[in-house]
Amino acid sequence: MNTKIVRISEDREEKWVEQSGEILQHGGLVAFPTETVYGLGANALDEKAAAKIYAAKGRPSDNPLIVHIADFSALEKIVEKIPEEALKLAEAFWPGPLTMIMKKSKLVPDGTTGGLDTVAVRMPKHEIALKMIRAGGGYIAAPSANTSGRPSPTAAEHVIEDMDGKIDMILDGGSVGIGLESTIIDLSEGTPVILRPGFITQKMAEQVIGKVEMDAGLIRPDANIRPKAPGMKYRHYAPKASMILVRGEREQVSEKIRQLVYEELKQGKNPGILCAEETADTYTEGIVKKIGTLHDEMTISRHLYGVLREFDQEGVTSIFSETFETPVLGTAIMNRLMKAAGYQLIEV
Ligand code: TXA
Ligand code: MG
Repeated sequence: MNTKIVRISEDREEKWVEQSGEILQHGGLVAFPTETVYGLGANALDEKAAAKIYAAKGRPSDNPLIVHIADFSALEKIVEKIPEEALKLAEAFWPGPLTMIMKKSKLVPDGTTGGLDTVAVRMPKHEIALKMIRAGGGYIAAPSANTSGRPSPTAAEHVIEDMDGKIDMILDGGSVGIGLESTIIDLSEGTPVILRPGFITQKMAEQVIGKVEMDAGLIRPDANIRPKAPGMKYRHYAPKASMILVRGEREQVSEKIRQLVYEELKQGKNPGILCAEETADTYTEGIVKKIGTLHDEMTISRHLYGVLREFDQEGVTSIFSETFETPVLGTAIMNRLMKAAGYQLIEV
């Protein structure tokens, strides 16, 4: 398949939005930017179109898709009923990086929800995404636009790496803002539960709707508790190299990582280091990558997946990483890093 790749610029925006809408209405696939990561869109109400997403990503078919909408009025058609909490959360955080799970209506095919009786819904905060969703019929199923098991795409180049030749169109809107997938909150039964941490934190949600829990499978993944979001059980976001996180006082962390790197080099391996700008010059050996500055946590979230991709391309055999427990995004950043590392963490 020939993938049409277009760079969005103001003068031609209308034309590309219109074209992407036509592709989506005819059951095709379009990758598009959002404020979190790039999505791979298809008509959510067309089971055959949704099936193409699984094929292009190599994604297990039991892993449900998020339905993206552009207007709040679109919600009532795809859910059984709108819970009170959803109204409040939408008011506070939509459009934005929050996905809500509710009981689905019959309009949403099983092929979109992996056979579940619930549906995940999100309204992204990105002008191109919102226009494309409307042009495509209002209900666009979209997972992250990466090959299953690779880090999510935070720039059009990443989408091209994984999807060129497999989908109809890529809308290149430049680099994303947040760089980590949306927070997922389950409102389908009892107390609301966060299934995937993101930019909207437990605290922020609690200020709007009261008590919110974290999914047990997130808090103690080592205890073999099955996470409730089917996608969270896979070893996602995985770089090809093995990865170990080192946590503790800054100087001790740096010393431990230097020691681990030295051991690897002695064995003729090619180690990489993932660190903050502030600590980068404490490392003199190995491939050192600065992820961002501790003074602006979004620089860290935004570059995380891209840096993991770079390590892959440079053939690094092992990655040693500092931890980044930053105020707002820390939980989400550490969740993705821990998964990429297969939960290998050294405390110093
Ligand atoms: O930021 C985002 O959410 C991005 C952009 C493109 O919007 N999308 C995204 O989609 O991250 P994806 O498919 O990569 O992740 C969706 C996650 C998966 O872990 C999936 O299992 C879970 O949401 N999920 C979807 N529907 C669900 C449902 N009905 N019940 C429980 N988990 C669900
Ligand atoms: Mg994904």
